[in-house]
Amino acid sequence: MSLKLVRNDPFNVELLKQLFGNSQDIQLLWPEAKIPFARDEWSEKFNLNPDNISLLFQLGGKNIGHVALIRDPLKRLKICFVYLDPSYRGSGFAHEMLRKTESWVKKSKLADTLFLTVRTYNPKAFSLYTKNRFQKLYQEGTAVLMSKDIK
Ligand SMILES: CC(C)(COP(=O)(O)OP(=O)(O)OC[C@H]1O[C@@H](n2cnc3c(N)ncnc32)[C@H](O)[C@@H]1OP(=O)(O)O)[C@@H](O)C(=O)NCCC(=O)NCCS
Repeated sequence: MSLKLVRNDPFNVELLKQLFGNSQDIQLLWPEAKIPFARDEWSEKFNLNPDNISLLFQLGGKNIGHVALIRDPLKRLKICFVYLDPSYRGSGFAHEMLRKTESWVKKSKLADTLFLTVRTYNPKAFSLYTKNRFQKLYQEGTAVLMSKDIK
């Protein structure tokens, strides 16, 4: 079965709270985030800029994954908060979420290049992005900035 991409619009923070289960995962998503999940800071993050987008991925009507598209201060479109429900990991769904996000960005003509930051201590995510042809631009401490041309 394939995933359905649904935009979380208007932004509903409860859906993220239900999805982002344990504290370890929250720290991988956002190392500075409060533990446990704090609705206020996540709402603030998304509502900071009306261009910020939250995409949910559904399987049989159930939300199992998430990808956000956030404009950074340099106006670059960054993929953030990439998350897959632990029960569905290791099954190729994460690759599908990235492919579908990329097609959605292309179709919406939002950007010609996608950016993301991954941590050196998250080798699985790093491998996921590398296999989806994101390239390393530079590293600052544990943060690696990657990009992909999607023209
Ligand atoms: C990141 C995440 C979305 C990846 O989804 P997943 O289903 O667990 O990922 P996969 O098992 O498909 O692994 C992705 C690739 O990394 C490889 N991989 C898995 N574990 C690895 C490891 N420890 N080191 C290096 N590569 C690894 C896999 O081989 C896979 O490639 P393949 O599909 O070609 O075999 C998911 O683990 C998650 O939600 N993690 C918590 C939040 C998070 O870390 N988000 C990313 C923040 S940048």
